[in-house]
Amino acid sequence: QVAAASGHTVVLVDQSDEILKKSTKGIEESLKRVIKKKFADKPEAGAEFIKKTLKNLTTSTDAASVVHSTDLVIEAIVENLEVKNKLFQTLDKFAPEHTIFASNTSSLQITKMANATTRQDRFGGLHFFNPVPMMKLVEVIKTPMTSQKTFESLVDFSKAVGKSPVSCKDTPGFIVNRLLVPYMMEAVRLFERGDASKEDIDVAMKLGAGYPMGPFELLDYVGLDTSKYIIDGWHALEPNNPLFAPSPLLNKLVEEKKLGKKTGEGFYKYK
Ligand code: 3HC
Repeated sequence: QVAAASGHTVVLVDQSDEILKKSTKGIEESLKRVIKKKFADKPEAGAEFIKKTLKNLTTSTDAASVVHSTDLVIEAIVENLEVKNKLFQTLDKFAPEHTIFASNTSSLQITKMANATTRQDRFGGLHFFNPVPMMKLVEVIKTPMTSQKTFESLVDFSKAVGKSPVSCKDTPGFIVNRLLVPYMMEAVRLFERGDASKEDIDVAMKLGAGYPMGPFELLDYVGLDTSKYIIDGWHALEPNNPLFAPSPLLNKLVEEKKLGKKTGEGFYKYK
């Protein structure tokens, strides 16, 4: 959405036409929210902006057949290294020589994905934040093999889509999630111990620390499954780090498919 809105030609790829239809509808809804503020006094210009953005966007269910015309691939599929590597290996065969591959992973090592391809120097991380149309940050991740030219291209692309890039080495959680995920897990542990209610913890962090959402609201917003993938991955890397300890309550909710806002229930219930 943000790439198309900033004038880039985008092919959105997913597994089925049904998912793509849902995604396109989601983008249309989000664009409507964007124009409400951006073109408050000029509804016609707003409608034109949506039309132009959607014109830049096509969809496909076959990544291998569309990658030949791309300069940049941004992968944002399931947080599973094997599945990601398989996709990158396939795309590596069909993508032009100059094409840069980037992963939007929240917590997996970019180096491991780059090593699944033959373009380690043209591989990096581009990590966006929910909701992407609103959050200004992008973390640009440079592995030891990422060339300076690739890194600069990723920084330039981030700026071209209207974001503020920061850079970080290929370390677990990069900057934001390395700080944010342990904080959210500490909130869950505080609640699990019975020290405070989740409602009070959320109010406390909003009114006492100025956060726009409390940790439980944010966990529901990000998705409990995503949070569990992240913490389980880090726990496997550093089993003795108490900040990375899994939470029985989070595991239970994920097992019950209460994944947050997207499924209608997580820590809270949604209509
Ligand atoms: N698309 C377009 N616009 C959107 C939007 C979307 N998906 N979601 C919200 N907005 C807009 C609204 O339209 C509204 O615009 P307005 O000011 O013109 O009315 C504006 O954002 C504010 O929205 P609301 O009034 O509905 O609600 P809030 O004031 O609470 O803001 C929020 C919503 C921007 C999501 C804010 O609560 C917030 O910043 N929350 C924290 C988000 C956060 O921490 N994100 C990082 C998560 S971690 C992550 O993503 C990493 C991953 O790897 C796990």
